[in-house]
Amino acid sequence: MQLLVNIDHIATLRNARGEGYPNLVKAAEICEQAGAAGIVFHLRSDRRHIKDADVFDLKNSVQGTIDFEMAATDEMIGILKEVNPHLCTLVPEGREELTTEGGLNMEVVFDDFKQRVFPAIRKTNIEISLFLDPNPYDINLAFELGTDAIELHTGNYANAESDEAQEHELKRLKSAAIQANELGIKVNAGHGLNQQNLKSFIEEVPHLNDISIGHALISDAVFDGLETTVKKYLKLFS
Ligand code: PXP
Repeated sequence: MQLLVNIDHIATLRNARGEGYPNLVKAAEICEQAGAAGIVFHLRSDRRHIKDADVFDLKNSVQGTIDFEMAATDEMIGILKEVNPHLCTLVPEGREELTTEGGLNMEVVFDDFKQRVFPAIRKTNIEISLFLDPNPYDINLAFELGTDAIELHTGNYANAESDEAQEHELKRLKSAAIQANELGIKVNAGHGLNQQNLKSFIEEVPHLNDISIGHALISDAVFDGLETTVKKYLKLFS
C-alpha cells in the first residue's frame, strides 16, 4: 500500500493570485522526499486548477508514480499519450461540481469505453484505473472491459453522518475490494480521506494499493507544513 498525494489544490492556491506560487513542482518534490510514493493530479476540462504546462513540468520532475486523473475525452486522451504517465484514472466530470462527485456509471460508459477509450489507451503502456463506487455491478463491468485497476470511491464513507452509515460504507468497500482482487483487478482508493478516517479504512479494507489523498492533506499542510503532514499520513499507513 502506498500514498499518492493529489496536489490539485496547491494549484488552486497558486491560481488565486496568478503569481506563480506556491510552486507545484516544489510541492511534489517535498511530498516525495517525505515518503509519498507519487503524485496525482486531475487535469480538468475547465482547467480550474491544474494547467497543461503543470502536467508536463510534473512529468519531468516527479520520480515516483504519476497518476493522471482525467475525464475520458479525446482531448485528454491526446494529452495523456504525450505525457505518458504510469497510471491514468478515469473519472466522471461535471461542469458545476466542486469535486468529483461519485464513481463512473459503468452501464452508461461501457460501450464508449470499449469501443473508443480502451483501444486508444491500450496502444500505450499506461495502466488504466476506473474510479468506481463500491458496487458489484460496476466492478463486473470494469472487469469485462479488462481494466488494470479500480479506484474505490471512499467519499460516502468519509462523509457518513453516523457510525452506522460509516460501518455500512466500510462493509461495501471491503466486499468491493475482495471482489476486485478475486477478479485480478488492482484496488486503489480515494476521496475524502483524512487523518481521522484513514486508519479505520485501512484496517478494514483489504488488498489496497494506491491511496490518493488531496484536499485534507493539503489543508493540514497549511498548519503543519507539507513535509510533516505527509509524514503524519504515512504513519497512519503502518
Ligand atoms: N480520487 C479521485 C478520483 C478524485 O477525484 C479525488 C479528488 O480530486 C481524489 C481521489 C482525492 O480526493 P480528496 O481531495 O478528497 O482527498
